[in-house]
Amino acid sequence: MERLDKLIASQGKYSRKDVKQLVARRRVTVDGGVAKSADVKVDETKAIIAIDGIPLTIKKNLYLLLNKPKGYVSSTEGHDGAYVLELVPEELYRDGLFPAGRLDKDTTGMMIITDDGQMAHRILAPKKHVKKKYLVTLDVPPTEEMVAKFKEGISLSEGLTKPAEMEILEENTAYVTLVEGRYHQIKRMFASCGATVVGLHRVSMGNLALPDDLPVGEMRELTEEELKLLEELV
Ligand code: URA
Repeated sequence: MERLDKLIASQGKYSRKDVKQLVARRRVTVDGGVAKSADVKVDETKAIIAIDGIPLTIKKNLYLLLNKPKGYVSSTEGHDGAYVLELVPEELYRDGLFPAGRLDKDTTGMMIITDDGQMAHRILAPKKHVKKKYLVTLDVPPTEEMVAKFKEGISLSEGLTKPAEMEILEENTAYVTLVEGRYHQIKRMFASCGATVVGLHRVSMGNLALPDDLPVGEMRELTEEELKLLEELV
């Protein structure tokens, strides 16, 4: 059982104060009856709560898919400048949201933002080896020699990387798929081959690909199907 105001506020759109006002104005119903007070206890698994007659879908957790733009950090504190959490639209914002995984400030592409700590832990756990695929743009054309080196693993200061797949594309671009996520990993792997990464964009995590119709900087909730694909990772 959960307090009505707390439950509605946990969904993001309304604060507890808003809920008190809505209740006072008789705009909230629980199981068809007008809610008499904001602190009434309701069964969050069963109660049908409506505001102005429109039923609320109570979601335990929120899973957002972001096409990260350049210039935003994926940490949640300790940096000057813009955080990816600032991109969460007001109507989706709720306490406890955080980015599941890191991308560098200048990297673009797929990020999951959620308040489900357990799921995030599962997809990020190093031993899960979830595949993360990136579109990389270099200052030089990628070579077969690089492909071979990535496959063997590259020796970085903290040790050998796991084998990474690399697929050469046109001009100076390639896809690289990692099963781990070390600090600046792709940039450092290419640096050790004498190349500089000038563009980095994450295109997929496991079976879940960044949809073509989600512009850079935009975010939306994962569909049921996408959530399933994400769950297949873990
Ligand atoms: N590798 C990097 O160097 N940066 C990223 O943001 C992701 C992978």
